[in-house]
Amino acid sequence: MAITTDEPRAGAPLRRIRELPGPRGVPLLGNALQIERERLHQKVEQWAREYGETYRFRIASREFVVISNPATVAAVLRDRPDGFRRSAKLNAAARSLGFNGLFTVNGDEWRRHRPMVLRGLDPTHIKAFHPTLVKVTQRFEGRWRRAAQAGQAIDLQADLMRFTVDVTAGLAFGTDINTLESDEEVIQQHLDTLLPALAKRVLSPLPRWLTRRDRAVEADLAAVHGAVNGFIAAARQRLADEPELREHPRNLIEAMVAERDRPGSDLSDEDVSGNMLTMLLAGEDTTANTLAWMIWLLHRHPEAAQRAAEEVRRVLGTQSHPTHEQLSRLDFVEACAHETMRLKPVAPLLIQEAVRDTVVDGVAVPAGTPVMCLMRPAAVSAAHFADPQAFRPERWLDGEGPGRAAGSSKRVAMPFGAGPRTCPGRYLALSEMKMVAAMLLGAFEIAEVSSGEGPEVQERLAFTMSPVGLKLRLRERG
Ligand code: HEM
Repeated sequence: MAITTDEPRAGAPLRRIRELPGPRGVPLLGNALQIERERLHQKVEQWAREYGETYRFRIASREFVVISNPATVAAVLRDRPDGFRRSAKLNAAARSLGFNGLFTVNGDEWRRHRPMVLRGLDPTHIKAFHPTLVKVTQRFEGRWRRAAQAGQAIDLQADLMRFTVDVTAGLAFGTDINTLESDEEVIQQHLDTLLPALAKRVLSPLPRWLTRRDRAVEADLAAVHGAVNGFIAAARQRLADEPELREHPRNLIEAMVAERDRPGSDLSDEDVSGNMLTMLLAGEDTTANTLAWMIWLLHRHPEAAQRAAEEVRRVLGTQSHPTHEQLSRLDFVEACAHETMRLKPVAPLLIQEAVRDTVVDGVAVPAGTPVMCLMRPAAVSAAHFADPQAFRPERWLDGEGPGRAAGSSKRVAMPFGAGPRTCPGRYLALSEMKMVAAMLLGAFEIAEVSSGEGPEVQERLAFTMSPVGLKLRLRERG
């Protein structure tokens, strides 16, 4: 047995999974009936409060080990790709939907794809992309000015997704799809169903052949694949017109198509389209929903919103949108993003699968066991943060009060994951969030953000955790 994630105390016997505490289930289905898919995260967090930092539960024949101690979680996430991988079920579900890409592949495939995606999203590319980010943000401001002048309520998440899809397509595909100014059917409407469909396939206790065909999902998939194939064809044409791009690709899609077309390449057409779709999906919901949560939290905490708005005015001076250099000086705005992700992580659970027999928190974990890492319990625990339920962005800034400890806090709250598979889109995501926050706080006052159901907003898990039904009303600043 390989002991990879921790060393049990000398002489202490290993526990077996069946000796762990956990909710009582029923024969065959286990705990499946206690779980509502869209609230899975809340259920497993509630069980963590009842059964502790390491417990078990079962969906049909799949016995999950659930962990929430941040050191144990980090050890599992760091032990990739050799000790843990994304689950075979996720991989199969993504393959069946045609978007097997960096997020879902494992082993050597992952080793080949990761450097290409990393290069396309590294800080140098993000810096070179900044003028386009400004252009897309200006269009976004125009859209919100028109809504403010017309006194219209804004569908917050739908608009934010227009922004994030336009940004991702600009950066990764070199294509200006401009859904922000389009009244036509936009790609997001088709993307919307895919992550929930993926979540459903990953968690279903039934084998694939027993589940019904979902024709709506198939139609959306066809539309999205059509769009992605169009981006790939355009990139291939650019490479034909400018052969020097093969050596010096400007973006991820050119890099991948050049690699695909290289004689002897082990990249397939499916690898290229799977990764392009992965970029759209990974970059859209996560950033848009984090921004939606942040705007909602800022509205509920006017003192934080005011401090953020003052910082934007001070750093930007007479500029209406931050330069790349100014973005790095929006410390309080960035702290608001970190505080939002601590309270409302859009990826509240990460499921990994043991590649080989191993040990997690003194428990013998056989190869193939799914290990569910809970990302929120420690981040909202008084053991790590003072007044843990409060939205206090200043705790992330150096030199302020107890409970801040920015360095160690970042090791406890891990909204972008940890280890070798940590999110490669985090620089882009933080840049997008600061651009939108600066635009919003500089040009508008938030008149209202609500779901129309009182002060709280429901959390819905459909692969990412989003707020349900937020509407935004804005007033232009004088
Ligand atoms: C606030 C925004 C975002 C959040 C909270 C977020 C969160 C995450 C998390 C938790 C993971 C899994 C990490 C792990 O397993 O350790 C991940 C992976 C990934 N993210 Fe993000 N993400 C965000 C934005 C983005 C953006 C903008 C992109 C690209 C445009 C992106 C692309 C990816 C990809 C490709 C992976 C898979 C990496 C791998 O498995 O090697 N993400 N993200």
